[in-house]
Amino acid sequence: METDRIKWNQRFESEDSFLGRRPSPFLLREIERIKTLAPGRRALDIASGEGRNSIFLAQHGFEVTGLDISDIGIAKAQQRAQEAGVAVDFRLVDLEGYQIGETFDLIINFNFLLRELIPQEYAALVPGGIFILDTIMSSAEIVVDHTPDYLLQPGELVRIFKTLEGEILFSEEVAEGQMPTARVLFRKAG
Ligand SMILES: C[S@@+](CC[C@H](N)C(=O)[O-])C[C@H]1O[C@@H](n2cnc3c(N)ncnc32)[C@H](O)[C@@H]1O
Repeated sequence: METDRIKWNQRFESEDSFLGRRPSPFLLREIERIKTLAPGRRALDIASGEGRNSIFLAQHGFEVTGLDISDIGIAKAQQRAQEAGVAVDFRLVDLEGYQIGETFDLIINFNFLLRELIPQEYAALVPGGIFILDTIMSSAEIVVDHTPDYLLQPGELVRIFKTLEGEILFSEEVAEGQMPTARVLFRKAG
């Protein structure tokens, strides 16, 4: 949506790194396991932002495609990938109504929630492919101003993934703190 592009462009313009340059903590912690689990090296980063997770995966040998609606985010991500000496295929797309149309061994979806995209992300995984969804959850303690639709409800992520054919290898909900989060590490049936 055009309003999302404008909003995120403003955020990415206003700060050097909106979400920092380090990869998401869960990705950092689990990278060796992910490398072992992923059946191949084609990876898709959904809503890749300023590219921190795409670049990290590329540094670990993945051939990464990053999709995002923010042209400022994409430009920063491309610049940072170049500085890091890795190649990432960043593409400017609106994920609302988007058709992925390719298959991947690993799909990561950090800090972005578009519920109707989840079945398509699943469909875009090869058999045995790995899917990580890690994003903000609603909680009594939440302090940041978020649109309710963009927040997971407690228990929701596991409920969604239980409907998909495969195995939840890890899940957790961290309700306390300023950034309540739910995450799932899932393997599609082989
Ligand atoms: C909180 S940031 C997360 C960025 C990245 N996943 C990370 O963790 O560093 C949310 C991202 O979603 C992107 N986004 C929001 N709406 C979108 C849409 N409709 N299509 C594609 N990207 C979108 C924004 O541009 C922004 O980069």
